[in-house]
Amino acid sequence: MSILKHHAKLETNVLLLMVGILLTVIIGGIVEIVPLFTISETIENVQGVRPYSPLEQIGRDIYIREGCYVCHSQMIRPFRDEVERYGHYSLAAESMYDHPFQWGSKRIGPDLARVGGKYSNDWHVRHLTNPRDVVPESIMPGYSFLHRPLDIGDIVARIKTLRVVGVPYTEDDIANATADLQAQASNDANTDALLQRYPKASLGKKDRTSDQVTEMDALVAYLQVLGTMVDFTTMKPDAIR
Ligand code: HEC
Repeated sequence: MSILKHHAKLETNVLLLMVGILLTVIIGGIVEIVPLFTISETIENVQGVRPYSPLEQIGRDIYIREGCYVCHSQMIRPFRDEVERYGHYSLAAESMYDHPFQWGSKRIGPDLARVGGKYSNDWHVRHLTNPRDVVPESIMPGYSFLHRPLDIGDIVARIKTLRVVGVPYTEDDIANATADLQAQASNDANTDALLQRYPKASLGKKDRTSDQVTEMDALVAYLQVLGTMVDFTTMKPDAIR
């Protein structure tokens, strides 16, 4: 009872109430924020996660430019219905090199976090050109203009900028960025070094409408790597191991 009496004092004194609220918010804030200072331990290391190859990264930038995130999330929540539909729930580590990340809770189309390898390259090109060609009931807009040539002039600047915000690209990655980009979108290039730097990168020309590297090539290379970096048949998070 006495605590209730004290509470009455608090509720009838505006100043006291404000100080009380402030204290509560400060304590709550500290509890939420301080653990994040140990961010290196907050995100567990997972084998296989790597920075995007130059072609994938430009594809990702096109994905953001075109607003694909308005209708698609890239975050599988740890709920049974989501895991059964899309695959293993997303791990924090899987988006550790994403700037900006593509999580989200609103979807008009399906989640794309694990779309890599689900369809052929040709399917993606046809679907992006005119979704109704492959999914008659689709309400997704067509992106046929992506058959235009890809502007690769600033790829080194893009990679360097990502390095500034913490993506661990090496000097070697930067020196080879343009060559790697061309090699990934070509059918007859030597891709040994590329695959060493970016394991599991989806190789080869995707867009058959042009001999040049197109925006479509980049976007499809990006879609095809989504969710494929971590091998979930062998993956064991550090926390569980
Ligand atoms: C207006 C909302 C909307 C926008 C914008 C949109 N999509 Fe979609 N997307 C959908 C819908 C709805 C579907 C399901 C029907 C279908 O497959 O076409 C879909 C399906 C897909 C699929 C197949 C997913 C699967 O698992 O079957 C891919 C891949 C995809 N979209 C990529 C993209 C990309 C890349 C962009 C941006 C260039 C984009 N979408 C923009 C609504 C959208």
